[in-house]
Amino acid sequence: MRKKIAIYGSSSAISCELVKLCGGELDVINYSHSNHGDKWFDALDVSIESLVTSVDLTCEFYVFNLGLLRPKGILDQTTEEINESLSVNLIYIVKATEYIIERNSKAKIFVFGSESGKKGSFDTVYFLAKAALRAYVFERKLKSPDQQLVLFSPSTIEDAGMTLRRKDKGNLEYIKSMHPKNRFLKSLEFARIVYSFIVNDFSYITNTEIEVNGGKFARM
Ligand SMILES: NC(=O)c1ccc[n+]([C@@H]2O[C@H](COP(=O)([O-])OP(=O)(O)OC[C@H]3O[C@@H](n4cnc5c(N)ncnc54)[C@H](OP(=O)(O)O)[C@@H]3O)[C@@H](O)[C@H]2O)c1
Repeated sequence: MRKKIAIYGSSSAISCELVKLCGGELDVINYSHSNHGDKWFDALDVSIESLVTSVDLTCEFYVFNLGLLRPKGILDQTTEEINESLSVNLIYIVKATEYIIERNSKAKIFVFGSESGKKGSFDTVYFLAKAALRAYVFERKLKSPDQQLVLFSPSTIEDAGMTLRRKDKGNLEYIKSMHPKNRFLKSLEFARIVYSFIVNDFSYITNTEIEVNGGKFARM
């Protein structure tokens, strides 16, 4: 029987690449907030009832590719914006992961973080959510030897939505010129790294972060 993978956040360019890579090997269920996928869900609804309808416990793989980055700091964000950001970037993912860990002994859960969880961001709420996600992945003990929980944290992805929507193009060009690779990461390149964890049994790599930043934090 073919294994199943649930991908949350299917409009993201990374998810689109991942779906293409997985298509031949796995049955893919796309969960989307924007009618881009097979099943609709809203990460703003963190109720247990929402999880019951949006989490298929027969999947072996779960990819949480959710993110909400605002072009402004915490002082300029409304209470509603801050709460939305915390739900999408953190609480929905953590609650869904808790739900899966308790009920699916084979689950391999891959969560997308960001270099911002380590270095900060102009959007303080996004930074705090990604930093908390990182702490959660490091510390959440799994319930079965077959389970896996990994955080994949990319730096800037040139052709993904969050970068394409940025207005500070000059700043981005400057960051790119200073990068050791002289280029940004690509969605397909990042999706391939995640996919390698799906087609290979790397389950001893768990409760840790795979940093995909091209060496930009090397200090000497
Ligand atoms: N782009 C970068 O340079 C970069 C750098 C570091 C980390 N990342 C991380 O990589 C991931 C993808 O980034 P991206 O650039 O591809 O972003 P994106 O195109 O903006 O995609 C974000 C995803 O979040 C989902 N989402 C937002 N609000 C939601 C809600 N209320 N309910 C359910 N889903 C919701 C969207 O789902 P649907 O539209 O499908 O519903 C969308 O697929 C994020 O975790 C981001 O933090 C990106």
